[in-house]
Amino acid sequence: MKIIIINGPNLNLLGKREPEVYGKQTFEDYFSQLQFKFKDVQLEYFQSNIEGEIIGKIQETGFSYDGIVLNAAAYTHTSVGIGDAVKAVETPVVEVHISNTFNREEFRHTSYISPGAKGVILGFGLQSYDLAIQSFLEGAE
Ligand code: DQA
Repeated sequence: MKIIIINGPNLNLLGKREPEVYGKQTFEDYFSQLQFKFKDVQLEYFQSNIEGEIIGKIQETGFSYDGIVLNAAAYTHTSVGIGDAVKAVETPVVEVHISNTFNREEFRHTSYISPGAKGVILGFGLQSYDLAIQSFLEGAE
């Protein structure tokens, strides 16, 4: 089972970015915990602050991987291009968010990713990623 986590803009700053919203742990640290927990899964991690690079990575992995866990961050609310990429590929995409975007500003209530996603997990902090990976494992049984 091959799964990639794709993180969008500013998520490279996790740990120091608005810790009251996103927590104090760096994603690199959390990712090692995930690798330890899901030893049977080939887990990959990609982060970019650039919309086109995120689209490129979805296209590159979206016809051969078993799952994509996508936190498009701010692009969630703006990017028709990433939304279209999610719809274009064969690999199922689970949309995740660390925060509960629905109890935040109005502009975070819209997602261009959700219409093409297999499902959406949000508001569980970094555990949202863990739950997304589990959803692929259980779906494979
Ligand atoms: C986020 C929520 C987005 O609204 C925000 O722009 C982010 C992170 C989250 O994981 O909670 O950068 O996707």
